[in-house]
This record gives sequence, C-alpha cells and structure tokens, in this order.
Amino acid sequence: NIPVIAIDGPTASGKGTVAHKVADRLGFHYLDSGALYRLTALMALRRATELSDEHALAKLAEHLPASFSGGEILLAHENVTQLIRAEEVGNVASKIAALPAVRQALFALQLGFRRAPGLVADGRDMGTVIFPHAQLKVFLTASTEARAQRRYKQLIDKGFSANIEDLLSDLKARDDRDTYRAIAPLMPAEGAHLLDTSNMTADEAVEEVLKWYAH
Ligand code: CDP
Repeated sequence: NIPVIAIDGPTASGKGTVAHKVADRLGFHYLDSGALYRLTALMALRRATELSDEHALAKLAEHLPASFSGGEILLAHENVTQLIRAEEVGNVASKIAALPAVRQALFALQLGFRRAPGLVADGRDMGTVIFPHAQLKVFLTASTEARAQRRYKQLIDKGFSANIEDLLSDLKARDDRDTYRAIAPLMPAEGAHLLDTSNMTADEAVEEVLKWYAH
C-alpha cells in the first residue's frame, strides 16, 4: 500500500514549493499535476487548437509526450520547464481544465505516478478525485494579496515581466474558474487538513505537513 500525500489549493498558494519540499524530505516521488494541464495548454497554443474543441484537446492530453526528470519538464525532447510557467499558459491551462474529456485523458497518467516508496501529489483535485484514499490530504490557502505577491516574485525570478494589478485580476478569474466549474471543482477533500500559509514561510508549512503525516 504505497502512501500518497495529496496537497490541493488555489493558484499561488505555495502548494508547489511545499509539496516539492515534503517529497524531498520523505524521499517520495512528486506529481505536479498542474504541469500536465500546462503542457496540454502549451501544445494547444502552439497548434492553435480551438479551446472549444474538447475532443482535439483531449487527444493532445491523452498522447502528451511529457517526461519529468530531476526537476526538469520535457515535452518530447524540449525542455519547457520555464516556458509552461508563463501566465498565458496558466490561463489556457485553467480553461481546458474545465473540460471533462481533458481531465479524463489525464486520469490514468496521474495514477501512474504512485510508485514506491510514496508520492506527494500537488494540484486541485488530488484529494477529491485522483487519490481519494490518500493517507494525508492537505488544503493550502493564503489570502489573495499574499498569493499575488508570491506569483509576482515567482514570475520576476523566472525572467517574466509582471504587474500586481493584472496578477490580482488573473488570480481572481482563475479562482472563479477552478471553483465554479462543473467537474472536479476546487474544494477541500473530505478529511483534509486546512493550512492558511498567508503568514507562514514555505518551511514552516512543510513542518506542519510532516507533523500531520507522522501522526
Ligand atoms: O501555478 P498555479 O497554481 O496557478 O497552477 P498549476 O497548479 O500549474 O495549474 C494550472 C491550472 O491547471 C490551474 O489553474 C487549474 O485550473 C488546472 N489544474 C486542475 O484543474 N487540476 C489539477 N489537479 C491541477 C491543475
């Protein structure tokens, strides 16, 4: 019975950093499920696939030539680790993530990340849909302002340009799309521990998660 820790939460809540560190500390594998939606979005953007063409988008997701190695994300043989973090890619990702056929196409791929000795899975529906029997479920939140600041810093550090006003409105649009969609809406899973990281460092959040996991 390979353990899974499911970490869900809204955009820029710090999930990625926290989930990654928890995986490192436990020597577990790490699933960045958002990256799968972002990769599908990048392919759709490049091929100019209509965002209303659910069938074509699901096909892209189903045959996603994605691989993850040592923190790098490859699409076929191209390193797209930085590229998929662009705000435009994130916005398209959140639009196609509302399509049932796309989510279905990525389902089996995500289950495959569960390998010994364990998995930390990061996303929106890890605890609710993909790994409902996870040993530990965590729902990370932070205030809109804290999240906008984090996203700003993240984008600037990666060499993108950004401004707080645009990020705030992007963030709210993304929250709404993720929360009010009909399929796999963003919400805490049953039995999830809630963690508000507005006034916490990533390391403090990591300690909290590890403490819950140990109990
Ligand atoms: O970096 P950020 O938290 O904004 O997003 P992400 O985790 O990279 O995911 C990008 C988009 O994919 C999100 O806005 C969600 O709409 C979608 N997503 C999802 O629907 N389900 C998941 N398990 C992960 C991401």
